[in-house]
Amino acid sequence: MSRRIKIFDTTLRDGEQTPGVNLNINEKLEIAKQLERLGVDVIEAGFAIASPGDFKAVKAVAENVKNATVASLARALEKDIDRAWEAVKEAENPLIHTFIATSDIHLKYKLKMTEEEVLERAVAMVKYAKKYCSHVEFSAEDASRTRPEFLFKVLEKVIDAGAVVVNIPDTVGYATPIEFGNLIKAIKENVPNIDKADISVHCHNDLGLAVANSLSAILNGATQIEGTINGLGERAGNAAVEEIIMGLETRKDFYNVTHNFDTTQIYRTSKLVSSLTGVKVPPNKAIVGSNAFAHESGIHQHGVLAEKTTYEIMTPESIGLSTNRMVLGKLSGRHAFEERLKELGYNNLTDEEIQKAFEMFKDLADRKKTVTDKDIEALIGAKVSKV
Ligand code: KIV
Ligand code: ZN
Repeated sequence: MSRRIKIFDTTLRDGEQTPGVNLNINEKLEIAKQLERLGVDVIEAGFAIASPGDFKAVKAVAENVKNATVASLARALEKDIDRAWEAVKEAENPLIHTFIATSDIHLKYKLKMTEEEVLERAVAMVKYAKKYCSHVEFSAEDASRTRPEFLFKVLEKVIDAGAVVVNIPDTVGYATPIEFGNLIKAIKENVPNIDKADISVHCHNDLGLAVANSLSAILNGATQIEGTINGLGERAGNAAVEEIIMGLETRKDFYNVTHNFDTTQIYRTSKLVSSLTGVKVPPNKAIVGSNAFAHESGIHQHGVLAEKTTYEIMTPESIGLSTNRMVLGKLSGRHAFEERLKELGYNNLTDEEIQKAFEMFKDLADRKKTVTDKDIEALIGAKVSKV
């Protein structure tokens, strides 16, 4: 039987940590409602203690979202956990997400704590959060650079203390896919009570590997992945949720897992997040970039016009687009040109007229990057009639 993978979306928390991004309550609510339509399992709505505005936004999301768990982040501090609970307590399914760093480098320079102190704090704060809420997630920040034996011990003790999800962040995007997959495998082998908790992964994209690392973690037993829409987040961002989902979907044969996503909501969600955050999606971005379903060269256009699967491994409809796109440029061939003429209503041209128009088009395409519909109409309008 296929395992079900849960999606923890942190667009509204880690995604908002994108430099220059600041979402108000209404914007967070609008995105949260769309994430609900998309079918995410958990919406991390913010970091309640960070500011009065973020507290109100988390609270508003908690009160308005019915079909997803709503989480607030909290450092492993009582005051953070109190504030997180205050913000999420009205949710249908509230979650407190508490974290502390576990790597030597963070212990020495940031926390100035010993491993024993970190372990004690992590356990105490999970127990503290459990007094409020049964659904507690613990994150070992910088897990991928943590001494493995210490990581195993922390995970075992926080699960004993009541954590039902343990999150393994690759906080600085340092891991490689095989290494990160092996870490998840080692956690399963070395944490005796691991079956009592979901194993979540939270990958950053500093080396462009966040999605690959997340997929490798799934192959090795992770049951939840964390990420953001359009890959927003600190520095180079977080794993792009839409890329992970379409990877799982397109290669079902390989990953053999299920999820609760309505993939046809992906494009709308991406557009909404881009417009409310002001962060443009690069045209060549996988899945949601404007070129993701566009074909420019004649060879590709010919193939796609004959049979879409020649150059499309997923359909535009599967992410909520109505169609693919043929871009007319100097590399385009006569097939795509003829197809566009028909779409523009030029249905009664002779072969000779089409050939003449095609030659004029090629000539223009040498001077102009993209030939538009208006260009084509101007090219042939005077010479042939439209029916
Ligand atoms: O990247 C990270 O480690 C985090 C944690 C707070 C989960 O965002
Ligand atoms: Zn993060």
